[in-house]
Amino acid sequence: MIPTHLRQELEQRVAQAITPREAAVDVMKELQRHYGWLTDEAVAEAAAILGLSPLQVEELATFYEMIYRRPVGRTVVHVCDSISCWAMGGETLLRHLEQLLGIEAGATTADNAVTLLPCCCLGNCGNAPALMIGDQLFGPVSPEQAAAIIADHRKPPQP
Ligand code: FES
Repeated sequence: MIPTHLRQELEQRVAQAITPREAAVDVMKELQRHYGWLTDEAVAEAAAILGLSPLQVEELATFYEMIYRRPVGRTVVHVCDSISCWAMGGETLLRHLEQLLGIEAGATTADNAVTLLPCCCLGNCGNAPALMIGDQLFGPVSPEQAAAIIADHRKPPQP
């Protein structure tokens, strides 16, 4: 259950939006920040805050790649696998990260530190190949740079 102050803040955001759906991504992202991923409980809470049905929230959640409906690691690395990045070495970058992290794309490291997710165009095509961690975009990223970027952005375990 989210704390009262967060619920009130989100209700306020929804009240200020033209339609509840307009605030849906914002609400889901905040709940995801709170829980680490969008749990079933979070879907129900988002639905209550937005005045939508849980099914409507579910539909929105599955549409957005940055909303996670299953547990993810503390740091999520999105690697673009769309055409510009693919043409500029995105696949090599992804394979390199798989090797570096010892996981396949779509998986999370055993220590729960990093999840590696291929994704659609990040809107950074001019700087391909691109990756994104949190709200931060990177590109063009060489395999060597990717290792340093991940090391810099790896979140430590919660005490
Ligand atoms: S194709 Fe990769 S950012 Fe657009």
